Amino acid sequence: MMGIISTGITEGKGRAGVMIPIPGYGMYQARLLQHNTHQVIPIRVTWHNSWGLNMSELKKKLDGARPHCLPRALVLINPGNPTGQVLTYEDIQEVIKFCAREKLVLFADEVYQDNVYAEGAQFHSCKKLLKDLGDEYSGFQLISLHSSAKGYTFECGLRGGYIELVGFNDQLRSRVKTYLSARSCPSTIAQVIMGLTCNTPMPGDESYEKFSKVCTDSYKKKAKMTTEVLNSMENVKCNEVAGAMYAFPRITPPKKAIEAAKAKEMPPDEFYCWQALEKTGIYMIPGQVFDMKGSGNNFQITILPSEETFAPMFERLRTFHQEFMAQFKDTN
Ligand SMILES: Cc1ncc(COP(=O)(O)O)c(C=O)c1O
Repeated sequence: MMGIISTGITEGKGRAGVMIPIPGYGMYQARLLQHNTHQVIPIRVTWHNSWGLNMSELKKKLDGARPHCLPRALVLINPGNPTGQVLTYEDIQEVIKFCAREKLVLFADEVYQDNVYAEGAQFHSCKKLLKDLGDEYSGFQLISLHSSAKGYTFECGLRGGYIELVGFNDQLRSRVKTYLSARSCPSTIAQVIMGLTCNTPMPGDESYEKFSKVCTDSYKKKAKMTTEVLNSMENVKCNEVAGAMYAFPRITPPKKAIEAAKAKEMPPDEFYCWQALEKTGIYMIPGQVFDMKGSGNNFQITILPSEETFAPMFERLRTFHQEFMAQFKDTN
């Protein structure tokens, strides 16, 4: 889809630039690298403001990139991966206004739109907010994305999804359709899953009760428990798991653990994740994978396991963490 905003130039100032949240879903960077036709303009979302966007930082980044490329688009992931944040109505409208001012196409990655857990948090679609801004924004170009791999079904294996183009002319829409038609379509089951994701059981439907219990209540419970357990661990701080399927806590490792990591030629977060995997079998992703270099030690953990396995899993993690902290305890 990034082809839509390509300038056709592969080097120098004429190359298209895309603003991407860091930490964020790695596929965006990977795809841009693969095609080598776009310059990545990283937007750092920070721990301190609950992984929200800082608008003045956004503007600084964009202005800094202008001498090197032609900024064409901004990717917004809401709710966030790997950070689990849910942006407010006002935050999203600020982003839309920013894109309008700077003439950027907005890629709204909304694949976690059904996965919102925090009290008072709500998913707001960019399309709806764009509408709320009125006719003044009628020429705005938005590309919304959803996937059957996320949402209620959590089915990575059944590849299906949809895109919606807003504000593009018929000629471009038809070219996108031709481009997509040249690829094999998703399997029938994946298409059915996508249909179900968009048409969930309603009150009164036979499966409504079970659906609410598993897809809503259970995930809310697990998200809350994840935030609480992680924040109860020594030297670990976790922003509330407000949405998506992940927590992205920050760990301050003792100096001795940092030295032990260095001896193994690993960043501290990678060292911690390896130790956890070897001792507990729990797989967590070090923050370095999300290009967190130099911005602290984080790790990503998912809330996907079933409720039955969840409590014992966290018990194992808590015990491992206590032992890790004791093993590398600072002595002075
Ligand atoms: C933010 C985000 N966007 C898109 C996707 C990918 O969706 P799909 O598996 O359908 O390619 C993921 C998957 O993890 C994701 O986290």
